[in-house]
Amino acid sequence: MASIPNEFIDELLDRIDICDVIGARVSLKKAGKDFAGLCPFHAENTPSFTVSQQKQFYHCFGCGKNGSAIGFLMEYEGLDFVDAVKDLAQLAGVEVPMTGGTGGQSNKSNLYSVTEKTTRIFQHQLKNAPAVIDYLKNRRISGTTSQTFQLGYALDEWDGLMKRFSPEEHGLLDKTGLITHNDRGRTYDKFRNRLMFPIHDKRGRVIAFGGRAIEAEQKPKYLNSPETELFHKSQELYGFHLARKHSQEDHILVVEGYMDVIALHEHGITNAVATLGTATSAQHISNLFKTWDRIVFCFDGDSAGVQAADKALLTALPLYLDNRIIDFLFLPEGEDPDSFISQHGAEAFRQQLADAEPLSERLLKIIGRQINTQTIDGKAQFQEKAKPFINQLPKGAFKNMMAEQVARITGLALDAKSAAVTAPKQPQNLSNNPMRQVISLLLNSPQLCEKIPNALNFRNLSFKGIEIIDKIVEIHRQNPHINAAAMLEKFRDSEYSQYLGQLMRRYDHLDEQQQAMEFDDIMNYLLKLTTQAQIEGLRIKQMQSGLSDEEKQTLVQLLRQRNHN
Ligand code: UTP
Ligand code: MN
Repeated sequence: MASIPNEFIDELLDRIDICDVIGARVSLKKAGKDFAGLCPFHAENTPSFTVSQQKQFYHCFGCGKNGSAIGFLMEYEGLDFVDAVKDLAQLAGVEVPMTGGTGGQSNKSNLYSVTEKTTRIFQHQLKNAPAVIDYLKNRRISGTTSQTFQLGYALDEWDGLMKRFSPEEHGLLDKTGLITHNDRGRTYDKFRNRLMFPIHDKRGRVIAFGGRAIEAEQKPKYLNSPETELFHKSQELYGFHLARKHSQEDHILVVEGYMDVIALHEHGITNAVATLGTATSAQHISNLFKTWDRIVFCFDGDSAGVQAADKALLTALPLYLDNRIIDFLFLPEGEDPDSFISQHGAEAFRQQLADAEPLSERLLKIIGRQINTQTIDGKAQFQEKAKPFINQLPKGAFKNMMAEQVARITGLALDAKSAAVTAPKQPQNLSNNPMRQVISLLLNSPQLCEKIPNALNFRNLSFKGIEIIDKIVEIHRQNPHINAAAMLEKFRDSEYSQYLGQLMRRYDHLDEQQQAMEFDDIMNYLLKLTTQAQIEGLRIKQMQSGLSDEEKQTLVQLLRQRNHN
């Protein structure tokens, strides 16, 4: 497989500034020698997310996430390592050199080229399928909109797609879920005689497909790509890249179906996305809040719609910060956004939107279901039922307001603090052991490696973590100018990466000179420890089997050394 040379990563991390990378996505304010802001990875109202320019490293004291600019992009944009490096390289205006692999392509880009080629094949086939074009016309989808969404058609053949790819490429077709196998080992196209909806990631690359039956007896009505390397249903939303590109609105509509997104777009409402036959996930919600401040969930007015809304609400509660808005729109029974807008037009739909129900009202309704709050028993029940919901909310004005509202309804005070969410998990508090201190200081300032005394042999000590120190020293030897973040990157794939990230902030309160002094102190202490360990070893031997002349001399020397230190 293709890979990126290590030296390039070091250089890249040296060239870019993590504050630019994160500052473009999270609003940061200067706080002492670092920058601070609201953590994009967990819900919070007071900033515990810090970015160190000096170390080129970010760290959240709330959720413990940390890493370099590469790690940040991977986490924030959902990119894999190679893509994150490519993005950064673009920012720095440099080319990513690749070694090995086929034509410098990463494995995933082979998969994208298969999905992109398939999209073009399906689009082409649609042009030659008058019956399917009629179907779209009947559903009032224009040619322009079909093109915007890259709609296509999968032929009514077992190998219509397969035969357009060389046998060597069938492995890739398999990996993208475009072909399946039956139990007798036969391989055939997954999508046959279907209207095809390519599903794009947020950068607009095709990662999967949905296929709608064209004939009434065809089951299931919609067939979707399976989970693949490219496609994770619980993270992706249909139409996300188009909504982000086209819409100027401050809010995003979340609807249930492909056709809903498309019909809304057809009517000029371009800010809609659809979940892909799954419930709305926390990941969906936090992804949407990265671009929009307000989410309007738009569900069918039937009981399934109400159930889906309840579920979305529960998922959203922990993410419901004071600067965010969530509303719920229920269309009249039997209607979905597609049928509603086709029948009543965009104006009527916007009218419905204006009447959407705020999350607070929806929540009180859910709590109050089947409870008569006019009775004392009912009031108590209401209060009990409210607690776990309010617990889920992040601290802040909205949480307090909901607690007050519940108190007003029941006449009983519900202390927002007593119902407080358990504080976000603190990063494990690692106790001080000298090895940890050494590792931490070396990560902070790799050039401290030069101050490790020759006489110090860590192997004489029974501490864990010696292999980490060895690796740091070795990396520093190869690249004496390496910075802290680049050093940390070298451990990305090791079992220690999380642990090392946590050690990184330990000496933040000290400046460079103080850190160097601290390092010297620890080195002296460790030297003493090794001396002591050697002395003890020799003493034991002396008692058990006696010492050679040479060993006796060593012991005397060691004792003298110890007494001088
Ligand atoms: P709906 O059954 O509400 O279909 O499913 P729809 O969007 O109104 O479709 P049309 O108007 O009849 O064409 C909503 C969504 O649920 C998923 C699809 O993502 C669909 O868009 N679904 C539905 C499936 O995955 N499989 C199915 O068989 C049905
Ligand atoms: Mn529909």
